[in-house]
Amino acid sequence: MAETKSLAVVGGGQMGSGIAQLGAMHGLHVWLLDTDPAALSRATKSISSSLQRFVSKGQLSQAADTEALKRLKCTSNIEDLRSADFVVEAIVESEDVKKKLFIELDKITKSSAILASNTSSISVTRLASATSRPRQVIGMHFMNPPPVMKLVEIIRGADTSDETYHVTKALAERFRKMVICSQDYSGFIVNRILMPMINEAFFTLYTGVATKEDIDTGMKLGTNHPMGPLELADFIGLDVCLSIMKVLHTGLGDSKYAPCPLLVQYVDAGRVGRKCGIGVYDYR
Ligand code: CAA
Ligand code: NAD
Repeated sequence: MAETKSLAVVGGGQMGSGIAQLGAMHGLHVWLLDTDPAALSRATKSISSSLQRFVSKGQLSQAADTEALKRLKCTSNIEDLRSADFVVEAIVESEDVKKKLFIELDKITKSSAILASNTSSISVTRLASATSRPRQVIGMHFMNPPPVMKLVEIIRGADTSDETYHVTKALAERFRKMVICSQDYSGFIVNRILMPMINEAFFTLYTGVATKEDIDTGMKLGTNHPMGPLELADFIGLDVCLSIMKVLHTGLGDSKYAPCPLLVQYVDAGRVGRKCGIGVYDYR
């Protein structure tokens, strides 16, 4: 089995920055690509502050922090990804946009490279079919925040090879993550279960059953969740939640997955959560 030495991460938002950080912390040479230079400068800041949290807890030495930062390079030029052994795509949750990127990555990266997607819900088989190497395309779904959460969900597309699966699993384990495997159906395991709960929390608010605070306190203290569902939706991004609900609704064909109108309205208003300062709650 080929050992992964260099990693490329495409998309430097909440997830991509965390995945790039994991790669650099675990000894890989990492390119982090984003088309938006402002996203790259936010990513660099959030990676430095996350590494410092590990240093302050004694889980990482200051020297290892410095070495990790030296292994990480940022770019907006896709040509820089030519020599990557393993690519993780973490851009916007849109099948069309992701497919365009996979077509480009297929042309640019070396023929042995594995192309993984951090998609939350979209068919890995369809992303793979946009490339000439469906055997080397796989879903590698990290949880937010990637440096802290212990899980990676792996999704094999219809043609993903055993070799691709084993290299991906080895990489997740190098990052000290627990791996679970899902068939390639909309939302996989985690979001198939989590998103309808978040959507139902929006319906509970929309229909006036309770205040946002009582909904979140109910789930935090009543079921020991670290965050209430509305607070968690703000943390994930309401745009991401809505995109996932739409994939579940279309892909599984059941009206029970219809997105709550209040969730749709927040996204229409640009209230997409913590990342923009306002969602269900106001963080400004
Ligand atoms: N980098 C490094 N460490 C971090 C960190 C980061 N980005 N964020 C938090 N931490 C660490 C803190 O240092 C702290 O460590 P100690 O307990 O050892 O002191 C610990 O994590 C807790 O952090 P905080 O005290 O700052 O805050 P918190 O207690 O509120 O925890 C949280 C933050 C870990 C995010 C916690 O609230 C949580 O687990 N929330 C739920 C997250 C969740 O459910 N994620 C999955 C979302 S679904 C998904 O990702 C899939 C999808 O496709 C949408
Ligand atoms: P985000 O909005 O924080 O970041 C996306 C980044 O991708 C932005 O910086 C944007 O500039 C960049 N981008 C968009 N199109 C690009 C392109 N063609 N090339 C290069 N960069 C491009 O999004 P996020 O929350 O990090 O989510 C990214 C992916 O991870 C999505 O597929 C999402 O479903 C998935 N995911 C999200 C979470 C979460 O909690 N937010 C958890 C697990 C998985």
